[in-house]
Amino acid sequence: MEIKKGLEDVYVKETEITYIDGELGRLYYRGYSIYDLAEFSNFEETSYLILYGKLPNIFEYENFVRSLKESRSISNGLREFLKSVKKDANPMDVLRTAVSIMGLEENTHVYSISDQSIVNLISKFPTIVAYYIRLKRDLEPVEPDPELSHASNFLYMVNGSKPSEEESKAMDVAMILHMDHEMNASTFASLVVASTLSDLYSSIIAGISALKGPLHGGANYEALKMFREIGDVDNVEKYILTKLSNKQRIMGFGHRVYKTYDPRARILKTYAKLLAEKKGGEIKKLYDIAEKVEEIGIKYLGSRGIYPNVDFYSSIVFYSLGFEPEFFPTVFASARVTGWIAHILEYVKDNKIIRPKAYYKGEVGRKYIPLDSR
Ligand SMILES: CC(C)(COP(=O)(O)OP(=O)(O)OC[C@H]1O[C@@H](n2cnc3c(N)ncnc32)[C@H](O)[C@@H]1OP(=O)(O)O)[C@@H](O)C(=O)NCCC(=O)NCCS
Repeated sequence: MEIKKGLEDVYVKETEITYIDGELGRLYYRGYSIYDLAEFSNFEETSYLILYGKLPNIFEYENFVRSLKESRSISNGLREFLKSVKKDANPMDVLRTAVSIMGLEENTHVYSISDQSIVNLISKFPTIVAYYIRLKRDLEPVEPDPELSHASNFLYMVNGSKPSEEESKAMDVAMILHMDHEMNASTFASLVVASTLSDLYSSIIAGISALKGPLHGGANYEALKMFREIGDVDNVEKYILTKLSNKQRIMGFGHRVYKTYDPRARILKTYAKLLAEKKGGEIKKLYDIAEKVEEIGIKYLGSRGIYPNVDFYSSIVFYSLGFEPEFFPTVFASARVTGWIAHILEYVKDNKIIRPKAYYKGEVGRKYIPLDSR
């Protein structure tokens, strides 16, 4: 009997979706390098690829794009719910509850997932997130614009103005890079629920709940908080050394699978730099701090295989695109929902309920003593 703490190195299924080479820092979706997809593809095309296993032809692509666009609006029930939420709620809790309402409205079963429920989830996540962001800012929500791509429309609904080409490309790339990552904690959580043949929405809620944690999708928020706390490039080395000597973690660093630089962080760094140079001011200052944290972090942690991960520079990218830090994990979720669905579809095709074991270490045969005699 061997307990693999955190299920480290345990395989739970075969997959043809995503391959990570953690030693060489490579990532492939359906066999395509993440570098090629980030450079040449967009959210819609990569989403189709991840879900259906092949790049769409022009007819399939246009059809998919059209159905995503047609499904962006949210129901009156959801709008009412979002208006009723208090302004200081955790945005991931809001998203989780909104998906629960969508599930109530649609009432589907996991073993009969329709193309429409898939499209509904993928297309409505950004609308829900942007709607709540606008309400939180005391601004009118912005209705989706069918002329815009998925990524541009997301930014448009958040900021109320059409994004520049650079912003739009950065958002597309960031969403591609967050779309799937093999058997991460949130994907596994959604599979556990799906494997009981519960419904699609319940499985996605499990994914959101797991992604919320600071050791997973919440790390982007923590990374930006850290850059702000450091405040100046000159404070970086002292800050990192104090953290490490107190056995605290550098957020946005380290990964269960990558023992080298995360390729997603490498790509995001170029966009973070580009946006920081364009926007200047606070964003440039935070970028410079991040770059120094990277240098010092690698100096002390690199020999142990601990390098920047996806959440390190995505924090700067999301911030410069107009998202408040507490919303970063919801942007992550808006991309990862495609990956959760693809893994659910793959798993339930040859379903087996996920039911591991726990090794019992307690006593047996204890004598029950009535309450009044204890
Ligand atoms: C991602 C993460 C949870 C992976 O965890 P894991 O594979 O279980 O690895 P462990 O937590 O067992 O860490 C192994 C060792 O590396 C150290 N380590 C890992 N990540 C570290 C970090 N970010 N900063 C400092 N030390 C770190 C641990 O302290 C541990 O040291 P020890 O062996 O002396 O106790 C972990 O790297 C982490 O907490 N990172 C920060 C949060 C983050 O950025 N999460 C987003 C991931 S995409």
